[in-house]
Amino acid sequence: MAAIKRHAVIIIVSKWVLFFAALLPLGFILEDVLNGGIGPDPGQAITERLGLAAFQLLLLTLAITPLRQVTGWSGWLRFRRMLGLFAFFYAGLHILAFLQLLLGWSDLWTSFTRRPYIIAGATAFVLMVPLAATSTRATMRRVGRAWKPLHRLIYPAAVLVWVHFLWQARSDITEMVIYGAILSLLLLLRIYWFGLATLIPLSRRSR
Ligand code: HEM
Repeated sequence: MAAIKRHAVIIIVSKWVLFFAALLPLGFILEDVLNGGIGPDPGQAITERLGLAAFQLLLLTLAITPLRQVTGWSGWLRFRRMLGLFAFFYAGLHILAFLQLLLGWSDLWTSFTRRPYIIAGATAFVLMVPLAATSTRATMRRVGRAWKPLHRLIYPAAVLVWVHFLWQARSDITEMVIYGAILSLLLLLRIYWFGLATLIPLSRRSR
């Protein structure tokens, strides 16, 4: 009984630590804005840093299952929803920054379709919306058996974000190649453990 209680306390404390850790990128951006250390083009820098935070959190969300497989501790799964929601939160801020600080709010259709890399990012965000919308326990229950197949939308979303990231690069693509290698490793591990079909959104494979 005492061991179960201790385990519950550890999970709750870890969740709070993760919550504040996930807010750090936003905190650092605000600090740089207030200190004038954000650089010569604040709008561009803020948009880029929010986008990068969103992608990093998306990759961390995808890393949860491999962590469980490697460590044998299923407690990792308790952090996945929060990581996924923070990825969505930062992606939302990234798009708001793009509109507010770079392009303005007029003619949104043109803004979102003006460049192929923006279309890739916008499509990724659209795929993330149903994941965030069905993340509570109540909606999980309501969606039932369709929940897992639906949440496989995270794989095409992550690939599209990477395409978006690569496509917007101007010259040096080292960073994009590193992130691409991490994403490929996470997807390949999943294929190795559970099969290719479990990467296909809306397919009814059990894993
Ligand atoms: C409507 C959707 C989106 C729009 C309009 C958009 C817009 C942009 C813009 C304007 C940039 C900067 C490009 C440049 O430097 O010239 C950018 C970069 C980026 N975006 Fe997005 N984006 C969208 C969706 C997303 C999503 C959903 C994610 C992640 C979940 C994301 C992650 C990134 C990343 C990682 C970068 C590169 C940041 C860097 O250079 O460090 N974007 N995006």
